[in-house]
Amino acid sequence: RSVGIGRAHAKAILLGEHAVVYGTPALALPIPQLTATASAGWSSHSSDAQGGLSFTMTGSASRAVVTLASDGLQRLAAAFKERMGVPGRPHLDVILDGAIPPGRGLGSSAANSRAIVLALADLFGHELSETTAFDLVQTAENMAHGRASGVDAMTVGAAAPLLFQAGRAEELAIGCDGLFIVADSGTAGSTKEAVELLRDGFRREPGAEERFLTRATELVEEARRALADGSPAELGSRLTNYHELLRAAGLSTDRIDAMVAAALGAGSLGAKITGGGLGGCVLALTQPELASEVARRLHDAGAVQTWVVPLRRLAPHA
Ligand code: PMV
Repeated sequence: RSVGIGRAHAKAILLGEHAVVYGTPALALPIPQLTATASAGWSSHSSDAQGGLSFTMTGSASRAVVTLASDGLQRLAAAFKERMGVPGRPHLDVILDGAIPPGRGLGSSAANSRAIVLALADLFGHELSETTAFDLVQTAENMAHGRASGVDAMTVGAAAPLLFQAGRAEELAIGCDGLFIVADSGTAGSTKEAVELLRDGFRREPGAEERFLTRATELVEEARRALADGSPAELGSRLTNYHELLRAAGLSTDRIDAMVAAALGAGSLGAKITGGGLGGCVLALTQPELASEVARRLHDAGAVQTWVVPLRRLAPHA
């Protein structure tokens, strides 16, 4: 092949972020309308100064991708070549077109990395197993975030909402229709900083870690049951409870809190911050007839863009 193509989509964590880093379960939702597409091809550049790779980014500029481009991409490609037994140091051109805004808790770094990994595999004619693709994306994620739970790496390639725990995922049983509005606060947060902030808090306050993880596990389990049993109101209140848990841990922002209050005021069944926090997005569960009003109120409260994600299985990427 002369060109390899890879795609991956964004994700939102329904419940369980942060606790999932400590091994408890999380529920995550693929966001199909936000995708990263990578193409990889043999380069005409003669210089091997950058380890035989050149990298171009179009679409949303992303700090995580710049990191990947300057350093991680080299290591990712090296890890890939070593793992796949691709000989030599071929000159590669990778072009990434990313539509996923960075630092918003939407998994942009994992999606960009997965798109690149799949593009390289496609170019080299390798059938990648899901396990290998996951491991390679995790290699890049661990460079960007320190220690990543793997929920992002798993969900950016998933066709359905997932229950994720300790590196394993299964499709969630969904017994009800649901409409999620994802609202961007316009401010990026650093997942790495947020994870460290929580860890520092746990170190300072004896018992805080156990209380946080116990409450998180309880809420995730109740939400999982509500989703399977078709109880959207129940699911909504668990989302809001989880927001309170993250807010109390110092992971929300004033604008995010205002957006959560606006969504609830407009009749949303539940709303919370999603992902790493300290900025990023709000996720609001709503009945379809209230969706436009909830979105309008979220914009009034400061959201710069919104997306609507129905709870449903997706067709896998071609
Ligand atoms: O902010 P994002 O999209 O990278 O999501 C991070 C989720 C965390 O639970 C905070 C970290 C992790 O590795 O699971």
